[in-house]
Amino acid sequence: METRVSSVHDGNRKEDLSLMDEIRRLKKQKNAVLLAHYYQIPEIQDIADFVGDSLALAQQAKDTTADIILFAGVHFMAETAKILNPDKKVLIPDPTAGCSLADACKADDLKAMKAEYPDHMVLSYVNCSAEVKCLSDLICTSGNALKLVNALPVDQKILFVPDRNLGGYINRMTGRNMRLWPGCCEVHDMLEAEKVLKLKQAHPEARLIAHPECNPAVLEVADFVGSTAAMLKFIKEDVSNAYVVATETGILHAMHKICPEKTFYIAGTDGTCGCNDCPHMKKNTLEKIHRCLVDESPEIILSDEVIEMASKPIEAMLRMS
Ligand code: 13P
Ligand code: SF4
Repeated sequence: METRVSSVHDGNRKEDLSLMDEIRRLKKQKNAVLLAHYYQIPEIQDIADFVGDSLALAQQAKDTTADIILFAGVHFMAETAKILNPDKKVLIPDPTAGCSLADACKADDLKAMKAEYPDHMVLSYVNCSAEVKCLSDLICTSGNALKLVNALPVDQKILFVPDRNLGGYINRMTGRNMRLWPGCCEVHDMLEAEKVLKLKQAHPEARLIAHPECNPAVLEVADFVGSTAAMLKFIKEDVSNAYVVATETGILHAMHKICPEKTFYIAGTDGTCGCNDCPHMKKNTLEKIHRCLVDESPEIILSDEVIEMASKPIEAMLRMS
């Protein structure tokens, strides 16, 4: 029987708490696991069974014994969970939560590029569609990209899709010359080095940490570059007490939890707008998660053929990670 819970994400803490209780009850009743990315709103991170970066979430999805995986992230992440768990029900609170990187590389365009460079292997950043994964030889995340590329033979020709910023960063770090697809993240790419540096100048004690999806000018001036999980590990182990953070705003919640005594300044395109809120990640709400658990929908559905083909490069990544 459906339980009615009235709540909106309007800062009404009492209603949010009752909705969170109801989500907890439904998760238990249905043996569902809630996986959440670090860019989710704080309430979702707090109620999740596991919060992580793309790599850890894929590993978690592979290892879960739950019957239902509810993925609070964006579409390609939930698809990856489904590819790794064809027999489980994988739910997504809002199926329109996409990603500008995944949108930047269409399977037909990649097919054409592969035909042009038949001697190149295709290394795809996990931020791509299941169809693009089917055309890939290996998948990577920002958490393992350098390790994976360093493990490939030095003379291996590589076509890297779809993030030119992450690909360029890997090229500079490894001395490779991977051919880069021209996609980028609409959130990270627009962070401007000049403004980020101004923020750093205003807080000279702070170190600058950045996600590799940022543009090269930002990465060049960063003190540390890494995935969301790597940035969290860095602030925990580093001796500084303040950081300018060049990534999506959601990570601040985890940063404050891990290092409550430290100070974080989020780098935005200006000091006032919410430009580095990912519009896709932020589509998920407690209400949609609750609805999704009640209805067991929207569900990720993929053909057996796509699952079989897309699982190969993902499994290869997990073995190499
Ligand atoms: P992470 O793998 O670092 O969590 O990044 C995922 C992502 O979409 C960043 O924009
Ligand atoms: Fe995609 Fe960028 Fe949003 Fe990450 S932050 S999901 S890369 S649009």
